[in-house]
Amino acid sequence: MSESRIQISPVTPVVGAEIGGVDLSELDDATYSSLHEAFLDHGVLFFRDQDISIEAQKALGARFGELLAHPNDPGAEGHPEVMVIHADESSKRVAGELWHSDVSCDPVPPMGSILRLHTVPDIGGDTLFASMYAAYDALSERMKALLDGLTAVHDGGPYYREVNRIIGRDDAGRSYPSAVHPVIRIHPGTGRKALFVNRMFTQQILGLPARESDGVLALLFDHIQRPDFQCRFRWRKDSIAFWDNRCTQHHAIWDYWPETRSGYRVTIRGEPPV
Ligand code: SIN
Repeated sequence: MSESRIQISPVTPVVGAEIGGVDLSELDDATYSSLHEAFLDHGVLFFRDQDISIEAQKALGARFGELLAHPNDPGAEGHPEVMVIHADESSKRVAGELWHSDVSCDPVPPMGSILRLHTVPDIGGDTLFASMYAAYDALSERMKALLDGLTAVHDGGPYYREVNRIIGRDDAGRSYPSAVHPVIRIHPGTGRKALFVNRMFTQQILGLPARESDGVLALLFDHIQRPDFQCRFRWRKDSIAFWDNRCTQHHAIWDYWPETRSGYRVTIRGEPPV
């Protein structure tokens, strides 16, 4: 087997690494193994100068698992499993402008997402990523004990229907995924514990009265925003970010209106959280 020559430069001690020395349109087995290891170690990988086609991006995602169509997005023409991420002067909203883990409302939420931007604003449009391992580790032992074994409802309906209302998409008669997941999940690849609730989809912690559930979720949503759990990615044309939805959350910043920011995302099937 050939030797992989990727360069790994961590962005912060807890999350994110820039990867050099790789062409993502041609991934040999040794490079795939090194990337997979780096992905588990850093939670999100960043790549520069990857002018790859939609087909190559799909092939890249498929190396890591089955590709998923989005429950509320029609996908790129001819590629239902490719989500178009696009904002310009006519946009009323942008994708991902809240801390979240992609489609956590699905009973089997995605393991990862790969986003490539081919058009970026001159300045702005960064994405924030946060480590949910770091967020879990920083909780007090008392709070960890309270959350241990609790489950929460993740519902796609409220968020996706609000998106559709803003952009004027008719969703009458549509239904959206909803699932119950552990509040603390164990990552299948690392065995580490990660906080698994997010502002976009998590509605209620089961087993607590509504008032307590609301209070605990508000505390956790605030907690995960701590700057020391985060890194911030500054995009350039043909940058790619590949993030692990099982142990990170992300937040896209819309500070570049009326400029255009555009690209494609593929989403990779995960496993039921435990
Ligand atoms: C998303 O997939 O949530 C959007 C991320 C981004 O546009 O930076």
